Amino acid sequence: MHEGTSFKRCIACIGAGYVGGPTMAMIAARCPQYKVTVVDINASRIEAWNSDALPIYEPGLLDVVKVARGRNLFFSTEVEAAIREAGVIFVSVNTPTKTFGEGAGKAADLQHWERTARMIVREAASDKIIVEKSTLPVRTAAAMSRILNANDKGIHFEVVSNPEFLAEGTAVADIDRPDRVLVGAQETPQGIAARDTIVEIYANWVPAEKILTSNVWSAELSKLAANAFLAQRISSINSITALCEKTSANIMEVSRAIGMDSRIGPRFLSPSVGFGGSCFKKDLLNLVYICQSYGLSEAASYWESVVAMNDHQRRRFVSTMVGAMFNTVAGKRIALFGFAFKADTGDTRESPAIGVARQLIEERAQVVITDPQALDNAKIDLADHLQAIELTDDPYAAAQGAHAIALCTEWQLYRDLDYRRIFERMEKPAFIFDGRNILDHEALYKIGFNVFPVGKGALKHF
Ligand SMILES: NC(=O)c1ccc[n+]([C@@H]2O[C@H](COP(=O)([O-])OP(=O)(O)OC[C@H]3O[C@@H](n4cnc5c(N)ncnc54)[C@H](O)[C@@H]3O)[C@@H](O)[C@H]2O)c1
Repeated sequence: MHEGTSFKRCIACIGAGYVGGPTMAMIAARCPQYKVTVVDINASRIEAWNSDALPIYEPGLLDVVKVARGRNLFFSTEVEAAIREAGVIFVSVNTPTKTFGEGAGKAADLQHWERTARMIVREAASDKIIVEKSTLPVRTAAAMSRILNANDKGIHFEVVSNPEFLAEGTAVADIDRPDRVLVGAQETPQGIAARDTIVEIYANWVPAEKILTSNVWSAELSKLAANAFLAQRISSINSITALCEKTSANIMEVSRAIGMDSRIGPRFLSPSVGFGGSCFKKDLLNLVYICQSYGLSEAASYWESVVAMNDHQRRRFVSTMVGAMFNTVAGKRIALFGFAFKADTGDTRESPAIGVARQLIEERAQVVITDPQALDNAKIDLADHLQAIELTDDPYAAAQGAHAIALCTEWQLYRDLDYRRIFERMEKPAFIFDGRNILDHEALYKIGFNVFPVGKGALKHF
């Protein structure tokens, strides 16, 4: 039993965001023998974690939190106390793209990480395992280890990499039944002992064959590479959409035919307005920056093109809209269906809808945004344009008097709307631009819409 408590182990997590909150909730729910304390400097976020209105929307998460909260799961702003108590400290603070100085626009901004490391050194009074949960540039553990172990207290810190592979919107299932858990450590006796400790935590619910161990650099790099590969699949399929539109090939048929090749597989081959989210672009750019730092310019430009294709696809979506609507959208009401970067999350970080909205505002359109979860974030993302936009959670109200609908997020609810009712309320000719190809295009066309899918010929009444 851990000293001073009835728990077998005390675990802390610094950073109560999209990763720290769900992962620690699952550990606590699955392992009542551990005390898990999640801390953050953001007091309102912690307050929300302690309520029924969690700070992030994630299907099924509240149930998991409720299993353990107050029993062995605690959310707190007392970072120092949690550091002192825990033997294992997960760090899942944000690691955004650097916006200033050397590497601005590409490199990872590690200031939150480094600040956390220095606070750990200051507060710790015993040896600790520090777990990199955030996504970090390869070889960060070396720098962290140096900062942490440059202490005169005689305390040893072992840095382990345990990157998180969850996807927002399916986080609970992803953590409960992961494809794999990866734990990387230095190949020293202390490193391997620390790795075993982390493996033991996951082994409480993850089958042994799904827990991979590796050296610490492979673990750090695997996370960046996995995100780069996922983003690359989206850019690859999107790179074929314009050609489909020119040649009467149908991207849905092409995607299906490609995906049934067992060497390729069907997932992540949906054409769209482009990928978003806080990770893909930042991790790709981070990979590009690391390659450049090692003088690997071909590898850098290869991965940079995945980002360029994504930006192009979003701009092309808006250009198609403007072109189709007689080369002007000035003064026209356009309803954006969905603002979150994907369905089942309220997260709008790097959402393609932000770029779509901004480009339409530049074209002087009247933009109306509707989304079931993301309107608060939309307000922040477009804070400099609040006079030019309208926000509503009712898609029917958004479409009232609109010239066009631009579907940006694949929420199930947008598949199930009464489009006949919507059509009747719209200006004519009425347009739908389906940025996710989730609607029944033939049925919409029969109602009277001019329908513009991605990577499929448009269905027009003129
Ligand atoms: N969001 C995802 O889907 C996802 C998936 C896998 C990995 N990741 C990675 O996980 C990391 C965290 O991502 P996120 O989406 O949870 O970010 P987030 O912004 O939602 O959460 C980070 C939290 O850390 C807190 N924080 C920052 N500095 C702190 C400090 N010094 N002390 C205490 N708290 C501090 C912030 O207040 C914030 O609440 C990133 O490196 C990201 O790349 C994210």
